[in-house]
Order: sequence, then structure tokens, then C-alpha cells
Amino acid sequence: MGQGVLTEPFAQRDGALFCEDVPADAIARAAGTPTFVYSTAAVREQYRRLDSALEGIPRRIHYSLKANANRAILSLLRELGAGVDVVSGGELARALRAGFTGDDIVFGGVGKTAAELREAVAAQVKLVNVESAAELVLLDEVARAAGAVVPVGLRINPEVQVENAHHYIATGARGHKFGIPFDAAGEVARMAAAMANVRVTGLDMHVGSQLATLAPYREGLARLIELARELRASGAPLRYLDVGGGLPVAYGSADASPDLRGFGVLIREAAGELGMETIVEPGRFMVADGGILLTRVLYRKESGGRRYIIVDAGMNDFLRPSHYSAYHRISAVRPNGSVVRADVVGPVCETGDFLALDREVDDVQPGDLMAVHGAGAYGFVMSSSYNGRPRAAEVMVAGRSFAVVTARETYDDLMRLELEDPDWRDA
Ligand code: LLP
Repeated sequence: MGQGVLTEPFAQRDGALFCEDVPADAIARAAGTPTFVYSTAAVREQYRRLDSALEGIPRRIHYSLKANANRAILSLLRELGAGVDVVSGGELARALRAGFTGDDIVFGGVGKTAAELREAVAAQVKLVNVESAAELVLLDEVARAAGAVVPVGLRINPEVQVENAHHYIATGARGHKFGIPFDAAGEVARMAAAMANVRVTGLDMHVGSQLATLAPYREGLARLIELARELRASGAPLRYLDVGGGLPVAYGSADASPDLRGFGVLIREAAGELGMETIVEPGRFMVADGGILLTRVLYRKESGGRRYIIVDAGMNDFLRPSHYSAYHRISAVRPNGSVVRADVVGPVCETGDFLALDREVDDVQPGDLMAVHGAGAYGFVMSSSYNGRPRAAEVMVAGRSFAVVTARETYDDLMRLELEDPDWRDA
């Protein structure tokens, strides 16, 4: 795979969009559209940037694979030295298949089933991040049945106010469903101390996603440190400080780029003070800018004074614009220099099916290709086959080479799990 360090993984060259050294139209010819395209060099570069901001700190970057669980991305990050953060049995299975093993994995999530807890115990993960007293009781039982003592991180809701791009991605404020409420944490830790098959070795938080400033990290960490001191004093063998994900990317000019240096300083102070190993769980930061969604223009039309550009990618392929009102830059693969004001919409039968509303975009015609930028995170993983639309293909690029790493779904795939002859039983 390519080793080149790029500042711009997707750039216009001689009038056409390239991913690294591969022309986007060559990818569309080979793989069709819509297709997600990922740059190996971009992911490498993000890993390197974060890792060097944390230099000198005992740490591990556990990539949050919910952002993009593609096997090629996972293998790349594993080669770079990352671990993973998983939130379901399905993600655990994916991580294991990509070659991650026990100590590489932290397992989080607010609603783990008994089966998922058994899978986490069997995989001997580094930490099961527990989000409630009831989950702790169940985990202790599951661990006892397996004859194991399980390392537990207590996911604390530090109850900090977070300014987010969208309230759906804020997680660490008072009353959110995530984590153990800060004032209940001591009690849950005491419960854990009295259990034979769990051992609290970590404290964990995740205050939100696309965090515009470091303030929520700073405030959350202050609370975690306060708690860590208390728990240490009562004998808890705390080893890991898991600060969650949330590092932002600049989707549009109004978004902040992450202050990585400041982040490093903050972590250094917090972890240094406690002598704990830091775990970071970045998802979006690692992959968002390393991906585009390639789509082809189908039609143009006007209706009631609005101009529409209808493309072959819809909300089923890329949900972020519709679900979070997220801004994603959209450009023509071969811009002709002029722009129009239009809505860029998909083929799905929903008014909420759009990629951009009332936006000045390149003046494209049917048959032209467009790229939706910043689509490497929370893109393909959130896609569905709604409206009978097979899910998109995924392509990985490394230097001058590219490969289809996930084939486009077929109509047969869409119906594969339907039973021709269902087994009806009497209740
Ligand atoms: N750790 C935990 C416990 C999380 O819940 C999340 C994300 C992460 C790490 C990674 O966060 P990141 O570094 O990517 O901000 N679908 C939404 C984002 C949902 C994030 C959920 N949790 C979106 O498209 O914006």
C-alpha cells in the first residue's frame, strides 16, 4: 500500500478529481456508482497526526470502528498499531476477523445483551466499558459462568455541557442515556469491588462527537480524575483512562479543526497526574476526510422555482445530510467553471432525501460525476437498502492502485435472507 504523506487526498488535477494518484472517473468506470472511495494515505496521515500529538504519553489509539468498519480500513489501522473500540457483537466479530485480538479491543455500548457480554468475555477484551449497575450485575454473572475475572471500565457520564453540531451526537450531558451518572459512580464502584468476577481497571467517558472545543474534554477529565483519586484511595486497581472519541473534522469552513496539540497537553496532564494509560477512541477524525461518495447525475429539473440536480446516491447511501442536517461539500469530478444554485437530491421517495439544499454547486449535466466529501465516516456503515436500493460499493486507493473492497449489493443479496418456505408453527 502507498506510503505517501498527502495533505490533500482528494485534489483536482488537470481539470479532474483524483484520489491520491487515481482519477475518480477511472474508479466510477470500474466500480460503478454510487461508490465510497477511501484514501489509504489519508487514514495513515490522520493516525500519524494523532499519535504524534500524544507522543510520550502511555497510550493506545482504539479506533472506533462504528465510523467505518470496512475490513481494508481496519487492517490498515491494525498495521499502524491501533486497537479498536467496538459496541456490538457484530463489530467484535468484524474486529476479530480483521486480526485484532483481546488486548486490542475495548467493548462499549449502552445495551449489551448477555450473549454479547459472553462474546466479550470469550474474546478476553482489554476492557468491557459498563454503563449501568444492572449491566455490571449481569457481566459478573456471565464472567462467573465462564470462570473468568473480567476487566471493567466504568463509563461515567461526567455531565458536562457540550456544544455540538447536532443534539443527536451529544452524549455526556446530565440526563443522557449513556454512562453511569457521575453521582452514582462511587456506589457502582463499591458494588463492583464486592463482586468476584469483575475488576474495575478503567474509567471511561465519551462526551460527544464533533466537539468544537476542548472544553468538554477538560471538564470531563477533571471529573474523571476526581473519581479516580477516590477509587484509588479505596483500593481500585485503576490502570486505564479512556477519554472516548469526539475529535472533530472540518466538514465546512465554519467547523473547527481539532486542536491536537492542546488535546495532547490535556491528556498528558490528566494521565500524568494519575499515572494511568490513556485510551482514545477516535472514529470520525480517523476516516471522515479520507473518503468521498462518488455519484452520477441522473437528471436536472425545475419545480416551483427550485432547481434540482438528481443523482444516483440517496439518503439510504449517505444519511448524514438528512439525519443531522450535516453540511458536506459536493463538487463535480470535472467542473466546467460555472456554478448553479440547486438542491442535490437522491432517488429515494422521501422529501428528506437530499445531499445538499439550496447550495451553489458546480454546473453539472446528466451523466457527470460528483463527489460528496467527508464521507469516510458514518457513511457506508449507516447505509441501508431502503427503497430496494442495493448498498454501494467501497473502493480503497493506495497511490496509483485501487481495489473494490466491498462489492455492490445485488438484487439477490437484498432477498437472500427471505425464506421461500417459512416454517409456520402453532403458538
Ligand atoms: N466512543 C464512543 C463510546 C462513542 O459513542 C463514539 C461515537 C466514539 C467513540 C467515536 O466518536 P467520534 O470520534 O467518531 O466522534 N453517526 C453520527 C456520530 C455518532 C457517534 C456515536 N458515538 C454522525 O454521523 O455524526
